[in-house]
Amino acid sequence: MNNFITKLEPHADRLKATNLRALFDGNPERFEQFTARLDDLLIDFSKEKIDAPALAALFDVARSANVEAARDAMVGGQHWNLTEDRAVLHMALRGGADAPAGDEVDETLDRFLAFAEDVRSGRYAAKTGPFTDVINIGIGGSDLGPVMVARALEPDRDGPRLHFVSNVDGAHLTDITKSLDPSRTLVIIASKTFTTMETMMNARSAREWLRGAVGAEAGHHMAAVSSNIEGAAEFGIDASRVFGFWDWVGGRYSIWSAIGLPVAIGIGADDFRAFLSGAAAMDQHFINAPLEQNLPVILALIGIWRRNAMGWPTVALIPYDQRLERFPAYTQQLDMESNGKSTARDGTPVAVSTAPIIWGEPGTNSQHSFFQLLHQGTDVIPVDFIAAAEPRDGDTEHHTALLANCFAQGQAFAFGRTEQEVRARMAAKSAPAAEIERLAAHRVFPGDRPSTTILHRRLDPFTLGRLVALYEHKIFVQGVIWNIDSFDQWGVELGKELAVNLLPSLTGDASADLDTSTAGLIATIKELSA
Ligand code: F6P
Repeated sequence: MNNFITKLEPHADRLKATNLRALFDGNPERFEQFTARLDDLLIDFSKEKIDAPALAALFDVARSANVEAARDAMVGGQHWNLTEDRAVLHMALRGGADAPAGDEVDETLDRFLAFAEDVRSGRYAAKTGPFTDVINIGIGGSDLGPVMVARALEPDRDGPRLHFVSNVDGAHLTDITKSLDPSRTLVIIASKTFTTMETMMNARSAREWLRGAVGAEAGHHMAAVSSNIEGAAEFGIDASRVFGFWDWVGGRYSIWSAIGLPVAIGIGADDFRAFLSGAAAMDQHFINAPLEQNLPVILALIGIWRRNAMGWPTVALIPYDQRLERFPAYTQQLDMESNGKSTARDGTPVAVSTAPIIWGEPGTNSQHSFFQLLHQGTDVIPVDFIAAAEPRDGDTEHHTALLANCFAQGQAFAFGRTEQEVRARMAAKSAPAAEIERLAAHRVFPGDRPSTTILHRRLDPFTLGRLVALYEHKIFVQGVIWNIDSFDQWGVELGKELAVNLLPSLTGDASADLDTSTAGLIATIKELSA
């Protein structure tokens, strides 16, 4: 791997010696210089601890890592997922690239969108009437994409209500089914492999729930999305309601495939196609825009700067948009399952830090919970804000307050409030000198805390597609720079295997050779549940 950190180090040293106030004071052009735009979509990274030479060095890093050649190789269908020996063609699902994926992509899209329209119109209905509710059973990429998009596009939903069950904890299914009428509910089992333990267990329980109400009709209430067509057939789902996808679509990149079926049932085929078009527009931008104007590349390089040059390991992703409440969780899987790796593509250890630790909650709620630490804690935590210029519901009073809060937080992080300013403000409010002395230090905001703000016009299907694809490509670019395979996920395997091994010990059918801690925990469970 090219040792890119040495190229960034002198810039990091220079910038660590200054602060964002000084950078803004010294350069009135920062906003123009450090923003990038694609139509209405704007990325403002002027509040990052960055300057022009540092940015130039970052673009050099991208060039030395051959980001453009890697992108073209992926788009051209090369087996970019090296360890699984697979192509990476999720862009083909949305027409974003002329990828060699074949006609079956369009056929499957037409087929699952036609089924979605049949459910919506009642052409495909339960015995007692149209389906009023849909439960999607899946986990990871077979859950987070659909649930995130469904919440984000709730204003577009004019079809059945959508529900999502993922956790093997029976509470999840129980709490959702408790208020639903099984005789009017359609269950979609979404699993690329159709072997995932949690999903199969929930699927069996949901089938029992349906059978309890509609008996032999239960099969009519079920559909499946999987690349394991035989597995779905064995489960008893009629082939006419099994929608496939392919091994070249990673689970966390599968929202564009039939995994989007529940969303399509909710919002309809036209809006689903608009969602795909948004992603395709971002694909075209990613493929064609020069690196210096390429939004995913810029976002990726900001991340490289934060992680590898400045040494900040975590990112708070804060949408100022209640409907993006699941966007941080979705992005967690997308980013951390893709780039949470410490082995390079050639099997050698990675010499640098890779994926950031991503977490977050919508603003303004997060302001009233963990923002205290972001403002005054001992760690610097860069923040990504996402906000729309217009609300979907036309309530401008609420929306203006939302935006004021978003921008205020970015200001507070960047510029803080010095002790001198605190003292002056307290004095202006006639605080007694002793009170100023006692509280001044506590009321200081160190500032110099970086953030990037992503703005767009409104959160509609097209824009959501662009946003998701923006993050997908950002992750790809970072994976190329870190020289890792962003499309495998071996790190989830051990836990799955051990859980299967532990089941007999918990059910009491057998006792495995266990470490003393695990044996003690199992013994305690048996004692407590006896
Ligand atoms: O455990 C990780 C994972 O393999 C994810 O990558 C995937 O999205 C999820 O499990 C679900 O897998 P499946 O769709 O095959 O049930």
